[in-house]
Amino acid sequence: MPGIPEEKIEEIRSSINIVHYISQFVNLKKTGQNYKGLCPFHTEKTPSFIVNPEKQIFKCFGCGKGGNIYTFIMDYEKHSFVDAVKKAADFAGISLPVTEQSAKEINYFQKLYQINENACEFFEDILYKPKNEEQLNYFLKRNISEKTIKAFRLGYAPDSYDQLLGRLKNSVLDLQEAAKLGLIQEKEDKGKFYDKFRHRVMFPFQNVSGKIIGFGGRKLREEQQPKYLNSPESPVYKKGKILYGLHQAVNSIRENGFVIIVEGYFDLLRLVEEGIKNTAATSGTSLTEEQAKLLRRYTKDIYIAYDGDSAGIKAAIRNAQIIEKYDMNAFIISLPEQDDPDSFVLNNGLAAFKELLKEKTLPIDFQINAFLNTNKNPSIEQKDSFIQEILSSLLEMRNQIKTGLYIHQLAERLQINESLLINQINSLKRQKYRSFRSKNKAGEEVSSTVKRRVHSGIYEAEKGLIGLLLNSTQEIQNYIIANVSYELFENEQLLHIYEFIMQELEEVGKIDLGKIMQSFQEDEESNKVISEIAVNDYINEMKFAKDCIFQLKKWDLEKKAQDISSLIKTEDSSTESILHYTQQLTEVRKEINQLVRIHRGILKI
Ligand code: UTP
Ligand code: MN
Repeated sequence: MPGIPEEKIEEIRSSINIVHYISQFVNLKKTGQNYKGLCPFHTEKTPSFIVNPEKQIFKCFGCGKGGNIYTFIMDYEKHSFVDAVKKAADFAGISLPVTEQSAKEINYFQKLYQINENACEFFEDILYKPKNEEQLNYFLKRNISEKTIKAFRLGYAPDSYDQLLGRLKNSVLDLQEAAKLGLIQEKEDKGKFYDKFRHRVMFPFQNVSGKIIGFGGRKLREEQQPKYLNSPESPVYKKGKILYGLHQAVNSIRENGFVIIVEGYFDLLRLVEEGIKNTAATSGTSLTEEQAKLLRRYTKDIYIAYDGDSAGIKAAIRNAQIIEKYDMNAFIISLPEQDDPDSFVLNNGLAAFKELLKEKTLPIDFQINAFLNTNKNPSIEQKDSFIQEILSSLLEMRNQIKTGLYIHQLAERLQINESLLINQINSLKRQKYRSFRSKNKAGEEVSSTVKRRVHSGIYEAEKGLIGLLLNSTQEIQNYIIANVSYELFENEQLLHIYEFIMQELEEVGKIDLGKIMQSFQEDEESNKVISEIAVNDYINEMKFAKDCIFQLKKWDLEKKAQDISSLIKTEDSSTESILHYTQQLTEVRKEINQLVRIHRGILKI
């Protein structure tokens, strides 16, 4: 962590009782070893949120959120990690040593925020100057009220090369930094600057905690280029990592349990203006993985309300794939071809838009609709290539139940035999898996998207092993370390956790739950799983360890057998290779047999 030393982070964490901290916000009652209360992250009537004082973690069995004190402060109070540590330090009455490096870094970021804040105030102020009535009217004419203008801090960059510059000169010492933020531009004549945003209505970008990190400016004259001028990336602004309007939307997203994502600034403002506040905008591009993960902090249900044109449709489908890859739920709102959400609401009213929300479709249906709309009577070839496209995108999906549902839907609507589709996708999976394995063996980078049929028994066994490592005796730990290799892990996330624990054992010789959570603090899903494993007291028995390892080893061999069988079935295999594979298969089956017998205690090793 830049700035604050690891030991200090640990010291602060261990000196706070998480129960006391969370009690500030949640009414907690003691039940057994734990404290229980109504979850602050989702709406519920019966408490499923627990705080465990012994392990110093919290966990909600309703929405799955969990973590340590820092996770809580970050998620609930919406702070960055560094700010969460500061907040906790405050609570604990511990003063933070400010290292020279961190002081520099913090100051540098503060300085950049400050410059943006200055510019934002300037654009806001000037919008209300009487001579700029026309620009204020621009918003009002587009049915954006003053209340919304203020809430989103909208402004105006005047038609001038030096007004912002003048303001910055008064308050900003280093104009080079303002240039880095894209507010002003240095002239050829070094040391001289001019304003970058001119005669544009301004949309400040805020990070989740509300700091101004950049701007988008819309043109006001037809001939201006581009239509929207956006700040360049800078140390404080990373394009694909933020969503416009999310800062203002967070509470409403929690209350409603879903978020609507739109393309444009005005689409967002229109919906907010109409009272639909759980909205965020991707600013004209499709959703990035970073943005999907950011949204997942607040909800798993994402409604995509993109423009009705063909570009919008494509982007919506792409978004849905990213959302489903992270096992969140995507729903697509279909707009008429000529509309964006802004124009749709203006032309048809809020009630009509709410109707559209109700009629949300699953991405698969949306895709099929789009396909059948453009191909009224699809030929076999057209159907085939469409199906291939869908199946390969389904490979990326994390949720297997949904994959099954989608295949069913596809079969029904395109009138294809469902089992054909299932065979097809399984064969695609195997292909992908084979290339993954051979790459893996060659020591190349392993693709992280490879997924196999998830086997819940395997998942539980993997969790069990991690649980035992966290909780059990030295003897059991040693047994696990000696018998489990990384390749046995099927679930990538659990593998990362397992790897981290192994590394800790090697380097420090002991496991510290707090530290584990710490190092996964950026990754909410991992935090959920770790806290779940930690509160679930796994049976501290050698037999349980052996059971788990047996499951993993058996599954590993079964996968091998499956792969070989599918090779045998490939029609173009020569007799010679079939013979070879059949022998291999016999070997693997023998191994499975032996494994089972050892496990049942029939065979002694
Ligand atoms: P649109 O061109 O659909 O604009 O771009 P819009 O949001 O409907 O704006 P109005 O209603 O015409 O005023 C959608 C989004 O794409 C981004 C902006 O975030 C915009 O809101 N965009 C578009 C840019 O960043 N730069 C551009 O030049 C154009
Ligand atoms: Mn528009």
